[in-house]
Amino acid sequence: MCDVRRNRSPLALRPSPLAPRPSMETLTINTDKQSLNNVKVGKDVKIFNFVNAYGCSIDDGSKVGAFVEIQKGSTIGKNCKISSHTFICEGVHIEDNVFIGHNVTFINDRFPRATNADGSLQTDADWHVEETRIKKGASLGSSVTVLCGVTVGENSIVGAGSVVLKDVPDNTIVAGNPARVLRAIERL
Ligand SMILES: CC(C)(COP(=O)(O)OP(=O)(O)OC[C@H]1O[C@@H](n2cnc3c(N)ncnc32)[C@H](O)[C@@H]1OP(=O)(O)O)[C@@H](O)C(=O)NCCC(=O)NCCS
Repeated sequence: MCDVRRNRSPLALRPSPLAPRPSMETLTINTDKQSLNNVKVGKDVKIFNFVNAYGCSIDDGSKVGAFVEIQKGSTIGKNCKISSHTFICEGVHIEDNVFIGHNVTFINDRFPRATNADGSLQTDADWHVEETRIKKGASLGSSVTVLCGVTVGENSIVGAGSVVLKDVPDNTIVAGNPARVLRAIERL
């Protein structure tokens, strides 16, 4: 595991005498066990081994398990737990205190194609990102798949193995494929 605040090179530890200390620090660490590039991290963030993260932000107190990929343009709030083997793609916004189980998959391209009609490989210009938001205090069980353009409401829980196709209201448990409401959460 890498406690990113303790594991930096001596050079990276030296603050600029001119710049005020920013609330988040931008990290680039490439070793045989980790690939973190242009990752903004807050205080007390813990990132375990074999994480590939780039161009994203991870706020104070959050933990990221092994074998997680986090793509550019995604954000993780404060005090989140991201369990191992999860894929967080561009356009996914995870608010504070969210639990993401193992092997959770997010989606940002509703109609994916490798190539254009002329056979050329697609680039960023050939498709558009549909954003997804997981609101404060929500939990996604293991192996959940979340389709793009979806919001999971505050404090809601998505059952293990579910496929979420549409918005989940606040304080609600959903499960299944497609995920359907099981019940409201009375008490947190
Ligand atoms: C959804 C969940 C929170 C349970 O909620 P609950 O309200 O206590 O639900 P119950 O166990 O009473 O089950 C209610 C119904 O939902 C079904 N159900 C429960 N979990 C389900 C799931 N993950 N997928 C599909 N159906 C599920 C049950 O079979 C039951 O159906 P029935 O009424 O036809 O018998 C729980 O099953 C779950 O999946 N938790 C996530 C655990 C997880 O992934 N943890 C990650 C860290 S290890």
